[in-house]
Amino acid sequence: MTSTTIPSLTITRPDDWHLHLRDEAVMASVLPHTARQFARAIVMPNLKPPVTTTALAQAYRQRILSCLPAGMQFEPLMTLYLTDNTAADEIRRASDSGIVHAVKLYPAGATTNSDLGVSDLKHCYKALEAMQQVGMPLLMHGEVTDPEIDIFDREAVFIERVLQPLRRDLPALKIVFEHITTREAAQYVADSEGALAATITAHHLLYNRNQIFNGGIRPHLYCLPVLKREQHRQALVAAATGGNPRFFLGTDSAPHARHAKEAACGCAGCYTALHAMELYAEAFERAGRLDRLEGFASLHGPLFYGLPPNAGKVTLVRQPWTVPSTLALGDSQVVPLDGGETLAWKLV
Ligand code: NCD
Ligand code: ZN
Ligand code: ZN
Repeated sequence: MTSTTIPSLTITRPDDWHLHLRDEAVMASVLPHTARQFARAIVMPNLKPPVTTTALAQAYRQRILSCLPAGMQFEPLMTLYLTDNTAADEIRRASDSGIVHAVKLYPAGATTNSDLGVSDLKHCYKALEAMQQVGMPLLMHGEVTDPEIDIFDREAVFIERVLQPLRRDLPALKIVFEHITTREAAQYVADSEGALAATITAHHLLYNRNQIFNGGIRPHLYCLPVLKREQHRQALVAAATGGNPRFFLGTDSAPHARHAKEAACGCAGCYTALHAMELYAEAFERAGRLDRLEGFASLHGPLFYGLPPNAGKVTLVRQPWTVPSTLALGDSQVVPLDGGETLAWKLV
């Protein structure tokens, strides 16, 4: 008999800096997945109706905590949904609450539940000035919504039309460019000065846009911003694995019922909460940079948000397992990314 030691990797317990938990029965299905993988998560406010006030964020936080299975440790870090009408006073209330950690910009019409988002950032300057003053980060879905702009260019154009002018006007505002998908965004963040960071999803590290159309249309790989060309995926891998603390983990795990994705007009979002760390480990291993996973997943995010890293550790082992093809989602089902596929790493 030969004895072999299974390769393993032990790192500081990670956090998810961009997560959709939804609400009610759907939340009850997905929350245990995230709480198993992560100690904390920045919880997105794009509910129906959106989480626009500190009072709504407090109530949502309570619903999350009361939905957490006994014995699980998890801290939801709440966010507010920025609108054209968000008042500077609301920002100060949010900051004083201690439970709101960021404010999210959804350009109106850019993505799921963004209809009540911002029509023009010029309407938000009072709120943004207050955020700059109290050190409240602005998280942005960084795509323009101009229908004249090609869908694959909407992120790059957002940098020129929205991000650069905003940073000129409010140079001390903390900003996270969420779920970046292009070489241009990675380059812009890497070259910038001041408090600008970016989150990167596992699916944008693992897939390019060809895979959406591999043998037919694959709705479970459709998310926003949409997957881009291979050269962009490679730039994201280089950014994530490069050790630069401006880049950190944000799954953007976005559950939608299977029937809502496998439809004539399918919803955008990939579900990765079940196996997020396994997916990131896969991407980092392919890049030969598993040694940089801890910084990306567990250290850079807390540094940017001014929070301590988690005290505990987690271990990943190189032990193949098959991702379930479907999972329960309330009274429906969700198809996880890579459902039915085998992954090399397993979180124990
Ligand atoms: C997200 C969702 O479903 O809430 N979808 C997505 O494709 N990423 C919204 C978002 O993060 O843009
Ligand atoms: Zn988004
Ligand atoms: Zn998202």
